[in-house]
Amino acid sequence: MSIVRVVFWLRLATLVGLCLPALDLAWRWYTDDLGARPVTLATHITGDWTVIFLLCSLALTPARAVFDWMPLVQIRRRIGVAAALYAGLHFLIYIADQKWNLIVVALEIAKRFYLTIGFIALLSLAALAITSTNGWQRRLKRNWKRLHWLVYPAAVLAILHFFIQSKANVSEATVAAGLFAWLMIWRFMPTRLRTEYLGLLLLAVGATAVALLFETGWYGLVNHVDPMRILRADINPDLVPRPAHKVLLAGLGVIVLVAARRLAVQGKRLWTQRYIRRTIPTS
Ligand code: HEM
Repeated sequence: MSIVRVVFWLRLATLVGLCLPALDLAWRWYTDDLGARPVTLATHITGDWTVIFLLCSLALTPARAVFDWMPLVQIRRRIGVAAALYAGLHFLIYIADQKWNLIVVALEIAKRFYLTIGFIALLSLAALAITSTNGWQRRLKRNWKRLHWLVYPAAVLAILHFFIQSKANVSEATVAAGLFAWLMIWRFMPTRLRTEYLGLLLLAVGATAVALLFETGWYGLVNHVDPMRILRADINPDLVPRPAHKVLLAGLGVIVLVAARRLAVQGKRLWTQRYIRRTIPTS
């Protein structure tokens, strides 16, 4: 398949994938399938998808490098914009929950720290989505890159918002923090190690350690739970999979996928060489 066709199908599949959670939510809303507290569930679902798409948009640069597959850059913008749109929807549902009373909404944002940081993250994502067009890129020149670095503090605030609102169970937020750590460590790694198996292994272990640190730190500081209790839970086979296991699995999954991709590329190259040798006679 030509590269133009690959990019076309990749973009189309991404668009469909990005719309599916919203369509599913709309359908469940319409068919009254969102349980006893539909607004709360809808807030949670849209919040989760915002974090997922935010992490996916940050993962595209590392993915392009480790899989050595250029078309991936073509979908970065739309995934980033989708993250901002889902954040907007999440906020709209919250406003609806407050009976559209904007004064109450503003007071709540000013009063509750987790809402304040969520709102700052939302404003940052909105600014990034608006300025993501080629026109803005041209207009802002070198400042465009500087502005788009905002995505990192926005992601930190979003994950902190996730932790704080999770209250007693921070499992999902811990997984998000571990995956974000993977992406950040990758960026600060020596360039040579970024695409090597050893580097990817160190990344998987490092991100798992960060997830453990977040989980033990959070439960220790907020709920006064002994960190050893968390660590014991993490080695208890009855409690698998714990958040740290999921982060480790994701890190190891990347290594397996990279190995599969490299084997496929190598196989294709060998096959082409054999084909050329067979069909084109040497003089
Ligand atoms: C980029 C911005 C934001 C992100 C990424 C985000 C993400 C999330 C996530 C992941 C959850 C938890 C979902 C779960 O537990 O499954 C959540 C919950 C929530 N978020 Fe946000 N959020 C953002 C902005 C906001 C804003 C601006 C508001 C309102 C001012 C808000 C209000 C809430 C509320 C009320 C909950 C549920 C709290 C509860 O059930 O007690 N979020 N958000």
